[in-house]
Amino acid sequence: MAISDLAGPTEIVDLDRRHVLAPWKNQGAERGAPIVRAEGVHFWDAAGRRYLDFTSMFMFANFGHTEPRVVRAIQEQAATLPVVASSFVTAARAEAGRLIAEVTPGDLNRTFFSPGGAEANEAALKMARDLTGRPIIIARYRSYHGSTMGAMTLSRDHRGWPFEPGIPGVVHAPTCDPYRCQFAPPGGRCADCAAHCARSLEEVVLANGPDRVAAVILEPIAGPHGVIVPADGYLEAVRQLCDRHGILLIADEVMTGWGRTGRWFAVDHAGIVPDILTTSKGLTGGYVPMGATVVREPLARQWDDRPLVHGHTYSGHALGCAAIVAAIGVYRDDRLVERAAELGEVLLSGARTLMDRHRSVGDVRGKGLFVGVELVRDRRTKEPFVDPARRTPSPSAKDRVLARCWDDGVYIMPGQGSAILLAPPLTITREQIEEGLAVLDAALAVADAETAA
Ligand SMILES: Cc1ncc(COP(=O)(O)O)c(C=O)c1O
Repeated sequence: MAISDLAGPTEIVDLDRRHVLAPWKNQGAERGAPIVRAEGVHFWDAAGRRYLDFTSMFMFANFGHTEPRVVRAIQEQAATLPVVASSFVTAARAEAGRLIAEVTPGDLNRTFFSPGGAEANEAALKMARDLTGRPIIIARYRSYHGSTMGAMTLSRDHRGWPFEPGIPGVVHAPTCDPYRCQFAPPGGRCADCAAHCARSLEEVVLANGPDRVAAVILEPIAGPHGVIVPADGYLEAVRQLCDRHGILLIADEVMTGWGRTGRWFAVDHAGIVPDILTTSKGLTGGYVPMGATVVREPLARQWDDRPLVHGHTYSGHALGCAAIVAAIGVYRDDRLVERAAELGEVLLSGARTLMDRHRSVGDVRGKGLFVGVELVRDRRTKEPFVDPARRTPSPSAKDRVLARCWDDGVYIMPGQGSAILLAPPLTITREQIEEGLAVLDAALAVADAETAA
């Protein structure tokens, strides 16, 4: 039976329930809506309802849905050479590598291609140990790096608990979160958050033996946990401490890359060059699953006369590489990175006005078209709606707010805890941003009603 011959939404959902294990949910719970079509910043469900995509699906549809230049490039590659073993070379792979070297900072010149973000981080983990001969990787609390065994060990929240023990040699340090800084006086803001948080990371380095630490991995802006923007100077301080101890710095730009924050990569705001940069999502706009692990030239040279012992059947998949080449062309031709910086001001300032009207909004922060809205039960104490240690969270105020947005035709993805993530396609217009924020504004009344009196 052809996909188009399937009878209708009810049959599709029923088949999916019977034969598909859906990610991240109780299999008996409601499935998501069947989606049948998308265009620009909108998509449609099977009932014909249109939704404004205010989170680029999972932060990947950076240039929107059905961008014809990328679709055409994939079609042309599929018609001539859709699949090639990774032991061969293709023009698409070589050109994708060249273009990535052009847009990533400094001497990040050589790319290993994988099928997605978690795999990009798995590669980075192995590379760091291989390049340094050291066993320990330091990651941070309230980070997300993927759901494979290694990547999930790096990510530290309740979702990893059932699968422990994870991989050995991973330790965690606090995240730099100016809103919830552990060094802040009660009820106040930390005066020197960057320095305190970098020092606490260095303490973890020293406690584990600096010459045993291979790498520090961090999201330059922690996305899934609520777009946590570190204090100014923090990333620079982490770069310096890594240099002091000969430790590699891995920047996970799976979510923050490709113009999302108003620069090509979030590390560009700090002007630092990580030793390894991992990315995915906006790399192809999600049109073909691809991940990339980009390594600084002097480090990658170590593998010129010994093997890189890592690979996938689909490393450098031809369709994915063709999509990357076309995607980078779209980012450049349409000046989408600059556009994200400009429209980001509209999104951030608009989201900040929500704080004036809603006592459930504790904090709003972000860069470019990447904004986190953190809901709290009590603004004074910053008590969250969702206890971070709760293993199976039932629908919270945040979920009810987002359900209301959905009912009103705006799709917004929840973050972890009580965070709401706003990250529309970089092609969105000012009017569409205002439209999305107006719907969120109305929906936040639901959370206001659940705040402390
Ligand atoms: C920062 C970050 N790293 C890694 C990943 C994992 O990527 P994937 O889901 O493609 O494995 C994600 C996914 O959301 C992410 O946000």
